Amino acid sequence: MQQVLFYQEAFVSYLNTFTIKRQPESLYNPINYILKLGGKRLRPVLTLMTAEIFECDYKKALDAALSIEVFHNFSLVHDDIMDDAPLRRGEETVHEKWDLNTGILSGDAMLIMAYQLFENYDASIFQALAKLFSKTALEVCEGQQFDVDFETRDDVSIPEYLKMIECKTAVLVGAAMKMGAIVAEASEEDQDVIYEFGKNLGIAFQLQDDYLDVFGDPNTFGKQVGGDIIENKKTYLYLKAVEFSEANKKTELQHLYSLNTTDHSEKINTAKQIFITSGSADATQKAIENYTKKAFLVLEKLDISEKNKLELITFGEQLMGRNV
Ligand code: IPE
Ligand code: IPE
Ligand code: MG
Ligand code: MG
Ligand code: MG
Repeated sequence: MQQVLFYQEAFVSYLNTFTIKRQPESLYNPINYILKLGGKRLRPVLTLMTAEIFECDYKKALDAALSIEVFHNFSLVHDDIMDDAPLRRGEETVHEKWDLNTGILSGDAMLIMAYQLFENYDASIFQALAKLFSKTALEVCEGQQFDVDFETRDDVSIPEYLKMIECKTAVLVGAAMKMGAIVAEASEEDQDVIYEFGKNLGIAFQLQDDYLDVFGDPNTFGKQVGGDIIENKKTYLYLKAVEFSEANKKTELQHLYSLNTTDHSEKINTAKQIFITSGSADATQKAIENYTKKAFLVLEKLDISEKNKLELITFGEQLMGRNV
């Protein structure tokens, strides 16, 4: 197994060969735009790394990795519409730069392209990839719908939240790794273990995403800081703050999250303060650590070299400390 940077670079050079030069440009330009905008390339890197962990040349997994990244970018384009987000990776979101209809259709086309990339594999691998992909993509839709439904509910529980982030984010991280294992023709048992590892890492990843949405540095974060507060997202930060707060603070927070205010900065500052003073910010950090550790425990079930396990652990730890 190589260093993370190696896989990132290998993936980005492969992605650069994928520039779409077909007509109409109004459909394909936004796709090229979002795909080239950057990002951490976490999921494709995991696909390539996993293939190599199971003794397969990463090059064989490039199309599966690309498929995962194209699907992820599709989900971001539609997510930004649903979340009314102005910024993505430090630049304008697709529906802001173009318009709503462009975001919808370019997103749809990306979803189809993601499936199409599996055609580059032989029948049995194609089938396994397509099956996992369909299941995962549907779960992501379910997660996204829960996320939106929760905006207008005031009785969301922590288990409901955890289920929601498992669906909208974690299953895709698990699937990215399982795809690497499928391409490498690893045993089904190993495929399932690596999926569980990725899923737990994915839960930690979304908890961290929610944390950074509030506490990230606006100069480097690349997304609108406070976006989740503006949209009344029932994140772990919010739910734990409600749980930890005295009656009057709890009512204040719940009232704040029933509003669609125009004075965003006041709402953001108030919520942020409550997250800190109530202890929910610390509890979120703890939860991130716990899910990362849970992922590491799963690794014990895997029959791979200690060196490779250590690489995965280092990767997980770096992810936990990320600030973008
Ligand atoms: C953003 O994903 C959406 C979530 C599931 C949290 P990333 O944080 O991986 O976004 P990029 O691809 O690096 O921009
Ligand atoms: C995104 O969750 C999950 C998917 C895109 C499926 P978020 O809405 O928190 O992602 P960001 O913060 O906009 O990247
Ligand atoms: Mg969003
Ligand atoms: Mg969202
Ligand atoms: Mg977010």
